Amino acid sequence: GDESDLTIRPPVVTVMGHVDHGKTKLLDALRNANVVDKEAGGITQHIGAYQVHTDVDGDDRRITFIDTPGHEAFTAMRARGSKSSDIAVLVVAADDGVMPQTVEALNHAKAAEVPIVVAVNKIDKPDADPTKVRGQLTEYGLVPEEYGGDTMFVDVSAKSELNLDRLLEAIVLTADASLDLRANASQDAQGLVVEAHLDRGRGPVATILVQRGTLRVGDSIVAGPAHGRVRAMIDEYGNEIVEADPARPAMVLGLSAVPGAGQNFLVVDDDRMARQIAEKRE
Ligand code: GTP
Ligand code: NA
Ligand code: MG
Repeated sequence: GDESDLTIRPPVVTVMGHVDHGKTKLLDALRNANVVDKEAGGITQHIGAYQVHTDVDGDDRRITFIDTPGHEAFTAMRARGSKSSDIAVLVVAADDGVMPQTVEALNHAKAAEVPIVVAVNKIDKPDADPTKVRGQLTEYGLVPEEYGGDTMFVDVSAKSELNLDRLLEAIVLTADASLDLRANASQDAQGLVVEAHLDRGRGPVATILVQRGTLRVGDSIVAGPAHGRVRAMIDEYGNEIVEADPARPAMVLGLSAVPGAGQNFLVVDDDRMARQIAEKRE
């Protein structure tokens, strides 16, 4: 495709930070759902992906979020997560301040050269010290705008749903200021497997993120070592959808096997070709 095929897509945002600093709770609050209460032990077991809408100066703007586990064992997945995204939201609990995985997360984001927006969370807590967090992060090169730097800090409370609109606005402003978010929606889809698992009733289920093109039900795809025809797609609200455009996450049914998180997927001409490519990859 040429330049005229390019349309603006939503930014893809990875939410990163130390364990229990409130990444999942923040995403829940942003999409008015409740994932935290359903998670075993409150630790994110896999990556979730969601799209939210926000109004900025009268425009309806979409943002795609990827939630990553905060557990030490998932460091590699998180590294992939930051590379697949445009912006990192670094969540720092205002009571705990900067912790080892905060530093790890910001290093991943810097290595991937994605701009960082800092969400100073849990400011509802009596021992919250958002000023201290600003001081700590300044030492790591994330200097708040109000101190003359170029990093946007937003004080939020996922629990009290405080300043969530300001956080979304900061993300949109960061996207508009520093990113070229054009993608070709008319080509065959390709993108990333965000998470995949075997569902007893539905077989292999993969959460994918479309990066280019539009994925449609009926398309033949290869995803890592898996192949198949897209039998159905489900959005983050559990609704069936028939197509997914750039930066849209969707759950895909119909694969022959469970691909790995971080592997690529692409649409090919037909099932036979999909199988041949997948078999070569095995
Ligand atoms: P991992 O996925 O395990 O890394 O954790 P996480 O960063 O996703 O944290 P999670 O959202 O699971 O929140 C951890 C705990 O902090 C939960 O008990 C939340 O209810 C609590 N929490 C999150 N945000 C806030 C907040 O703004 N205020 C208060 N008081 N508690 C919060
Ligand atoms: Na947690
Ligand atoms: Mg979590």
